[in-house]
Amino acid sequence: MVFCADRLTGMQLSVIGCGYLGAVHAACMADLGHDVVGIDVDEAKIEALAAGRAPFHEPGFPEILERALESGRLRFTTDPTAAAGAQVHFICVGTPQLDGSDAADLQYVDAAVDSLLPLLRAEHEDGPVVVVGKSTVPSGTAERINAQITPTGARLVWNPEFLREGYGVKDTLYPDRIVYGVTSDESGKAAADVLDEVYADQLRRHIPRIITDMATAQLVKVAANAFLATKISFINAMAEICEVTGGDVTQLAVAIGHDDRIGKLFLKAGVGFGGGCLPKDIRAFAARAEELGRGDSVRFLREVDDINKRRRQRVVDLAVEALDGDVTGKKVAVLGASFKPMSDDLRDSPALDVARRLEALGAHVVITDPEALGNVTKAHPELAQAPDAFAAAKNAELVVLVTEWREYVVLDPEAFGQVVAARRVIDGRNVLDPAKWRAAGWDYRGLGRP
Ligand code: UGA
Repeated sequence: MVFCADRLTGMQLSVIGCGYLGAVHAACMADLGHDVVGIDVDEAKIEALAAGRAPFHEPGFPEILERALESGRLRFTTDPTAAAGAQVHFICVGTPQLDGSDAADLQYVDAAVDSLLPLLRAEHEDGPVVVVGKSTVPSGTAERINAQITPTGARLVWNPEFLREGYGVKDTLYPDRIVYGVTSDESGKAAADVLDEVYADQLRRHIPRIITDMATAQLVKVAANAFLATKISFINAMAEICEVTGGDVTQLAVAIGHDDRIGKLFLKAGVGFGGGCLPKDIRAFAARAEELGRGDSVRFLREVDDINKRRRQRVVDLAVEALDGDVTGKKVAVLGASFKPMSDDLRDSPALDVARRLEALGAHVVITDPEALGNVTKAHPELAQAPDAFAAAKNAELVVLVTEWREYVVLDPEAFGQVVAARRVIDGRNVLDPAKWRAAGWDYRGLGRP
């Protein structure tokens, strides 16, 4: 067990919001030796977490959750007043896209702050009381929250989170950087010292810690996601160009990626990005910039979004083309439902979107996914599903790979070809070897590949 630097016992922390971010953060903090209470309004989620059941698929999380619960340092509750005993309060609630708008919905952040306000004070027996904002928020939110909590004497640090789903535990325990946005006075310095104590274990490992003002800290997160989304849409735009020039975007990505200034990562062309973060974050960023009168500065993010949306339609168009212009009544196996492998998250999933568009065109879609079928049942009971790729593809006239789960990437085209009605495949993630699949008699179509 790892205890925080120079402490015999951990610090008392509350984590408000127990989704992907909060639940993983709470369990990891308890694993580092802190006393943690996780709070959420969702009773079913709290019941599952308290019983040691992960409410979502996240590799490594069930183990760390179990260990933390067994240690007695982690508990979960729906009672917001349970945060009263904590010195440090982490706000980890979601900021989804507002209905009918591109802006972020801040109602959960506001509710978290409202629930905390009556419990806040300047000092805890162990030192200053600190509220830590981790949710992804539009610029100006931290300053507004700071004005709300300052009268209580508590301090605010904006500490954006960069964890990727599927790597949540690793990214929490071994982040590649830690960012604090603090006020420029003594109070901001004291708050940073408290957070240093929380993250003593990470800081001992010399993980870079960058201290900024609140405005910069909020922007670091949205700028990072905007950059990543732009990189993906850039390579997808090149895929569109490859489609009219006869080039191969996968070779192009390798060739430009050798330049260290460009880098190889996040240059995988395909059906595009999805999930609960990148799509809504770039929209919220553009919407906020417009409110601030600088919409022109990030107008390109609208283009990034449009390129991304076009890739989904491109997969659907390829499917129609592969089926000679009409998908009606034809069986199509869709491999993948989650927005990326190692996750069961369906939020803004390109895979699910493609499946639903094909279904709407009259195809008989059968979807499969190693982890997300439970969520598909809840969200789209109308979609037919099968437990694995072979079952989904039985008698299918077309196979569409849209989430690059390992088990799909390693499919043997010959054995797989035995179950389908026709050997046609659309590789929506450019992860199959076209030569191998074509040699096995498949009509192979990738994105941005000849
Ligand atoms: C993203 C960021 O990567 C995290 O750093 C950030 O903390 C997180 O959002 C967040 O804001 O909370 P995540 O949504 O888990 O993390 O997923 P990514 O791994 O970034 O993938 C996003 C999407 O881009 C996926 O649909 C993936 O398939 C797609 N992608 C990724 C591509 O299409 N091509 C690539 O080359 C890379």
